[in-house]
Amino acid sequence: MAPPARTDEDILGRSDVNDIDTIIEISRANSDVTSVIHAVQDNSDALFTWDYAKGARPQLERLYEKAKTSQWNAQTDLDWSIEVDPYEAFNIFTESGSDSEFGGNPDLPTANWGKEEWREFSLEEFKWRMSQFLHGEQGALLCTAKIVETVPWIDAKYYAATQVVDEARHVEVFGKYIDTKLGDSYPINVHLKMLLDDIINDSRWDMTYLGMQIMVEGLALAAFGFMHQLTPEPLLKKLLRYVMADEARHVAFGVLSLQEYYSELTAAELRERQEFAFEAAVRMRDRFLSQEVWERMGVPVKPMVANFLALPADQKPFQNILFSKIVPNCKKLGLLDAGDGWLRRRFEEIHVIEFEDWVDTGEEYEDLQVEEAAAV
Ligand SMILES: [Fe+2]
Ligand SMILES: [Fe+2]
Repeated sequence: MAPPARTDEDILGRSDVNDIDTIIEISRANSDVTSVIHAVQDNSDALFTWDYAKGARPQLERLYEKAKTSQWNAQTDLDWSIEVDPYEAFNIFTESGSDSEFGGNPDLPTANWGKEEWREFSLEEFKWRMSQFLHGEQGALLCTAKIVETVPWIDAKYYAATQVVDEARHVEVFGKYIDTKLGDSYPINVHLKMLLDDIINDSRWDMTYLGMQIMVEGLALAAFGFMHQLTPEPLLKKLLRYVMADEARHVAFGVLSLQEYYSELTAAELRERQEFAFEAAVRMRDRFLSQEVWERMGVPVKPMVANFLALPADQKPFQNILFSKIVPNCKKLGLLDAGDGWLRRRFEEIHVIEFEDWVDTGEEYEDLQVEEAAAV
């Protein structure tokens, strides 16, 4: 008999997806602002396999071979001598802050902001985004090391091992950029932390893939692409382009591995995956509410968050684009419409379903070659 359906309270820890008070309160309770080490219980079995037949899964083997020839060196392939003006590197709100998704409403605390305030906000927002990229990259490093242990297939263990090196490099480059060019960072966002904790905590090996490769890295690939497109800063542009070449492989790894595994799951098991994908989507939406930035700017958080959540989808182009790879990948995995189409309805509710027919990321790594990153 199928287990009783889980409620939003079970899945998210709140019964209303848009419960602003809970979203903000949880952030205030973030203990990782002051501590250095954060321990998470990992409930998985580490699996040996005695089946060493390389290439039993040809697409994964191809990805592994591709990864071996696509390595780059964070120290020598990037020109760290480039001087960066942090105000100019990702200055996307200075000119248009008042009409951006954060401004515009005359009742907001930012209604009287001028160019100077939006310039400061733009810088803080940039530092905050780069800091969350850094923390997310460490999440990817830990998750991929976990996949090496837990996935039962040798081709996947081989490939995941290359991803561990990729993620170490990503932590290295974002850390170095923040340290040497921005000089200041933000602690991990609590919603991102809750998601990473849940991914690592889960005992089922495919949930690491779903949470990390499909959801977190799918979003990261879109977010890096957005920043890469808008930044005029040459070091950041090249850094992001290199990272994107790696990330496209990582998302492909998730899609290719889960496609096979999900074809064998029961409807009840698929429903658990749908719920996990929904939880991840909501956590990532919550993570992009810039709460810590408003706080640092001395602006009351609640009206800013409430305003943002109430905006129609077409006025939140950045937030929307974040889901542009996640939704088609969930569709490719059969998760959107499995069972009674529960995930499709939930994605409709958080206004991201429109991306379902965008290209999925199963093959995108073929278009984002590292050689081209080197030539940028
Ligand atoms: Fe990464
Ligand atoms: Fe990655």
